[in-house]
Amino acid sequence: TRVAIVFGGRSPEHGISCVSAGSVFGALDPDEYEVVPVGITRAGQWVLTSGDPAQLAINARQLPEITAESGEDIVLRADPTGNGLMVLDPTEGPRALADVDVVFPVLHGTYGEDGTIQGMLEMAGIPYVGANVFASAAAMDKEFTKKLCAVEGIPVGPYVVLRNGMTLTEQDRDRLGLPVFVKPSRAGSSFGITRVTDWAQLDEAVATARQFDPKVIIEAAIVGREIECGVLEGEAGGAPEASVLAEVRVVADHDFYDFEAKYLDDSCEYDIPAGLPEKVTRQVQEYAVRAFTALDCAGLARADFFVTPELDVYLNEINTMPGFTPTSMFPRMWAASGLEYPKLVNRLIRTAQR
Ligand code: DAL
Ligand code: MG
Repeated sequence: TRVAIVFGGRSPEHGISCVSAGSVFGALDPDEYEVVPVGITRAGQWVLTSGDPAQLAINARQLPEITAESGEDIVLRADPTGNGLMVLDPTEGPRALADVDVVFPVLHGTYGEDGTIQGMLEMAGIPYVGANVFASAAAMDKEFTKKLCAVEGIPVGPYVVLRNGMTLTEQDRDRLGLPVFVKPSRAGSSFGITRVTDWAQLDEAVATARQFDPKVIIEAAIVGREIECGVLEGEAGGAPEASVLAEVRVVADHDFYDFEAKYLDDSCEYDIPAGLPEKVTRQVQEYAVRAFTALDCAGLARADFFVTPELDVYLNEINTMPGFTPTSMFPRMWAASGLEYPKLVNRLIRTAQR
């Protein structure tokens, strides 16, 4: 099987995508897969890289980066023979990207997890791992994730969406209470998020979020434990399956599970499986699968929840291309569920969109 791993990309999560891809490369059996490592620079240039996992690790708190020098230029252009997109590979001559059996877009955030590359691959007729155009776009956007999940009866916390030119009214403030989380509606890895404990901090927090997305979502802080659940598309037409749950505990020095805590320091502890009563575990898994279905997801997703001290469950968000880094929850939850990393990757490639 010839599989193109596409990584890096134009989103602020570029570096995380590189680390995720490094782990995926390490899990692909070279006897089974011919891997085409396609990096995308922050500026959007496509390059054929070496795909060396050693160059895709976090080193002294520095995230890896794909640059124009990381490999040979790939020229994307419409294929005159109608085969989709051409990849001009200078070492082998022109070759259609459609020559690959499947594309695994290990891309997080905008231009990767939001339906854009999925649309390109649909146009080119190339099978790809993960959610389709609609589900990717819907899950990328915290506003529409909440709206679609809420109508399916999945509890979501109070929130207000601020489009350009909008501000919070007094009524909004009373309804949300403090603290609130101010977030870009379409971003990931906690970029642009501020925990606001005083309304005087709001304007600055909104400005910070707007650096990532003109649309900002303000969420009431839910006091509770952070619980995550992996979901995989069922095999052979079966129902989606939920993994065992993980709990993330931020143990030191962070206001919340922010970027540094996620990737750069040792301030988090993880419990896999999470220590929750059986009934709550089943409830979370049921909501995770229902959310997967509500958004029309495919392949994989990670659903993130809060569980309050009263054991009420609230959906926080869904990620259609969750992190695959060595510290990421998705592969670890599946390993704890009996699906080791290489088997997980095999299954994702097997269930790729046709
Ligand atoms: N957006 C990051 C990669 C995650 O959800 O794991
Ligand atoms: Mg996310």
